Amino acid sequence: MGSLDKPNALRLITLFSGSVKGMAFYPPSHPAIRQPLMELYKILTTALSCGEQVSWGLIDGIMFFDDHLFIAPSTAIADLTERLTEKGIARITATSSVSFGELELFVKLFSSRSVRFDTLSVQMAEGGVTSLKLVRHGDETFDQGNDDAEIVPEGGHVAAYTRALSAIKTICRDIERGRIPNSAPLIKVVDKMVAITMEEPWALLGLTMIKDYDHYTFNHCVNVGVLSMALGATLGLDTMSVRNLGIAGQLHDIGKVMIPKNILNKPGKFSSDEFDEMKRHPEFGSKIIREMEGLAPHISSVVLGHHLHYNRSGYPEWATQLPFNQMIDIVAVADTYDAITTLRVYQHPATPKAALDEMQKLAGTILNGAIVECFIKMMGDYPVGTLVRLDTNEVALVHRPNPQDGKAPLVRIVIDGEGERLPVPREQALVGSDGSHYAAIVAVVDPLLKDIDIGRLITGGFTEAA
Ligand SMILES: [Fe+2]
Ligand SMILES: [Fe+2]
Repeated sequence: MGSLDKPNALRLITLFSGSVKGMAFYPPSHPAIRQPLMELYKILTTALSCGEQVSWGLIDGIMFFDDHLFIAPSTAIADLTERLTEKGIARITATSSVSFGELELFVKLFSSRSVRFDTLSVQMAEGGVTSLKLVRHGDETFDQGNDDAEIVPEGGHVAAYTRALSAIKTICRDIERGRIPNSAPLIKVVDKMVAITMEEPWALLGLTMIKDYDHYTFNHCVNVGVLSMALGATLGLDTMSVRNLGIAGQLHDIGKVMIPKNILNKPGKFSSDEFDEMKRHPEFGSKIIREMEGLAPHISSVVLGHHLHYNRSGYPEWATQLPFNQMIDIVAVADTYDAITTLRVYQHPATPKAALDEMQKLAGTILNGAIVECFIKMMGDYPVGTLVRLDTNEVALVHRPNPQDGKAPLVRIVIDGEGERLPVPREQALVGSDGSHYAAIVAVVDPLLKDIDIGRLITGGFTEAA
């Protein structure tokens, strides 16, 4: 159980970042510093009233406070991330004895741009700051003796997702710099995801509703990997095939890094020249993958074939006669689903349910009909990540399928019967294990109409669940 809810955790990080920045311009006694510092201290002590200590810092470049992860960084988070990285600090830990004076001095010392981990540690000791501790980057082991991915089961799922995201980002950055990417971090995180997926194929599906519109390609790659793995596991494939599907899915669009940005991000339709250029991304991607170490040869083949279409009406045209295995059909189904459910400059996202209807129309031609059918079955009547209205007039997010009753999944209530947004979503089974009935789903709700960010809800709602 986390000590703060996500908005307060975010507020704390923002205040910390703001106070650090402000110290460069004002003395600590100035109201522009003192006020945010006092608020920061108040939130920090509230957090500490629930436990011995709290931590904030970076996991694989992603800011966290306790078990909250901040996937889409604000300016304050980006600034703090940069400072922590420059200083070589992975984590700051505060214990319950922390005083306002210690916090104030720490913020002042931390605010010096040139000071690094070792000097800062010495200055803190000299200044008597003993209730705040630093963990050096590279020395991160979590206090419970656990891998951080295992702090809480679902928080662990988010951590796996963000690790995958960071692995893909690094791979893309290496490609941009003309380097051959290292496949090891991606393989490591896929292995973790495979273990989760083989046990519960749907366990990671909710995370695919995390859509970061500014970094569409990265999230899209991870989402397609997650969906492909889930589909492979549902189809009864063995662990090695599911693992290769996860890797292929996550790498399927890396060739886009080689496509000029003005084409890649163009709103509206491509000209025929632009489309020809865009169509080269599977070839670019498969070539890069062939050069990467430790990847099975058919992973590059899946990437090459992911736009060929089931009836081979797709591209690259020269590859339409080549033999491919079923994995391209699986990745193509996952790719199509994630693309349809994502908001892009030129596209309003479809709800998961509408996306499945759309895909049914493509079954047998563009997509493999049998795989689409299996995918639809796997996603259920109300796929994870769907926002629904209940007959109690509450609005809820589908959180987990119910294998016993596809129409009665586990949900998180987001808006109550009076239309009030709940500060903390409430977990609710529509039908209890004893058969008791809570409510029925009456409609699917468009999250944009309710101004609800499903991704945020999915990553933010873990600690409060009973
Ligand atoms: Fe693609
Ligand atoms: Fe794609």
